[in-house]
Amino acid sequence: MAKKDKVFIFDTTMRDGEQSPGASMSLEEKIQISRVFDELGIDIIEAGFPIASPGDFEAVSAISKVLKKSIPCGLARHSKKDIDRCYEALKHAPRFRIHTFISTSPLHMKHKLNKTPEQVYDSIKEHVTYARNLTDDVEWSCEDGTRTDMDYMCKTVELAIKSGAKTINIPDTVGYTVPSEFTKIIETLLNKVPNIDKAILSTHCHNDLGLAVANSLAGVQAGARQIECTINGIGERAGNAALEEVVMAIRTRNDLMPYETGINTTLLSKASKLVSNVTGFPVQYNKAIVGKNAFAHESGIHQDGMLKNRNTYEIMTPESVGVKQTSLVMGKHSGRHAFKDKLVSLGYADLTDDVIENAFGKFKILADKKKHIYDEDIIALVDDSLVIDNKANKIVLKSLKVFAGTGEPQKAEMKLDIDGQIKSASETGDGPVDAIFKCIKNLYPHDVNLQLYQVHAVTEGTDAQATVSVRIEENGKTTVGQAADTDTLVASANAYIAALNKMIIKRDKTAPMMEQEKERVRGI
Ligand code: KIV
Ligand code: ZN
Repeated sequence: MAKKDKVFIFDTTMRDGEQSPGASMSLEEKIQISRVFDELGIDIIEAGFPIASPGDFEAVSAISKVLKKSIPCGLARHSKKDIDRCYEALKHAPRFRIHTFISTSPLHMKHKLNKTPEQVYDSIKEHVTYARNLTDDVEWSCEDGTRTDMDYMCKTVELAIKSGAKTINIPDTVGYTVPSEFTKIIETLLNKVPNIDKAILSTHCHNDLGLAVANSLAGVQAGARQIECTINGIGERAGNAALEEVVMAIRTRNDLMPYETGINTTLLSKASKLVSNVTGFPVQYNKAIVGKNAFAHESGIHQDGMLKNRNTYEIMTPESVGVKQTSLVMGKHSGRHAFKDKLVSLGYADLTDDVIENAFGKFKILADKKKHIYDEDIIALVDDSLVIDNKANKIVLKSLKVFAGTGEPQKAEMKLDIDGQIKSASETGDGPVDAIFKCIKNLYPHDVNLQLYQVHAVTEGTDAQATVSVRIEENGKTTVGQAADTDTLVASANAYIAALNKMIIKRDKTAPMMEQEKERVRGI
């Protein structure tokens, strides 16, 4: 197979990205980011603008010393002072790039630089040559390139290459261009600049119209072989082309864009989280590739399709960008298929169709009321459905007598129907409830932890109906029993027996819980 064309990935998260209002990063943070970027396989890392501040100088210098594979780069205006400062910051690295730029659009030349096109032209020769004498890796950018006269751009690009630039970068500085127009710019340069084969063409697209990634890819399809981009698309105003998006687009649509990048895409999620944490810029939930919902499905139709074949609704795997797995979020749009799948993942194997149907009905009602459905909610629904399904409970309270009051130890006498057999016991305890629970243990020996015993009065007055809740735990599995009665002690016995009946069913019907799940349940 023929070797694919390489598209170089030039990251400017720490230069253009840091120019986003409020996104400044400390030296330590920049070093931490650089290490991850190096591992990610970024070809060139623009680490800062050394003349801008002593902090920027120090950062570029420190980063240039820690990079193992990526080439460090610094930015410089057309000024010998800027270029010298850049060189001083980078000179310890075995290889480094100086990136120098000047505006070439009529608007910028006149109003920003107060220079004529001829003066700008002369400046290119002078400054690119100056930088070229310090390193053989010089990149030249025509700022506001997409609003530059095309004939003038061809002349300046030819001169920059003649003066020693090996990379020619075409910035869409204000995010004004559209893909067809950007294609034309790159094609024109390739057709009209005589020495264009001596340089690599690069894109640097801003996202003011939301077209930064589309424009960068249009540039590559037209012949550019370097993309300037940032993690999470951060950068001036609406940001730059997002690195993770251009890389995954090339990888996923390699049929249309048969190029390769050196990016280890499984580290994209890690890099995104790091940049977000450092800058404090949250990643929007629906952000392509690295957003929280990028691999989450809630609609029933989609979840059903995903469970049958992932390719139905997934064009790339979450693993390919370093996300552990697709999440099927349980919500009001989820269908039976996903619900069943969720039950299996929670350890409920072999449930009858009746139980699943009953629990699914309750789940839909709950999902209409509740925004987030947690695993615990589903466990509670299924437990209830299991008990309803098991019309013949194993243990039924037949009679209860309690002797309470001062002086004597409290005593309970109880009759239980266990699997159709009547059994009786009498126990004393530390209070009437303790005596009742001891009777149940005596008649149906078991070993569970009592996690919760709670009494609520449902109505007012001395004849109030009491509702008792009991939660028990056995080997990491918990069940909750509830019962109501005007006699609090009868409600207590029935609540405990309800929890125990559920536990007996749960023991039979569910797989053993995994450690992680045990911890989660214990933490309720
Ligand atoms: O957007 C831009 O024009 C730039 C240049 C300095 C490359 O960031
Ligand atoms: Zn920029």
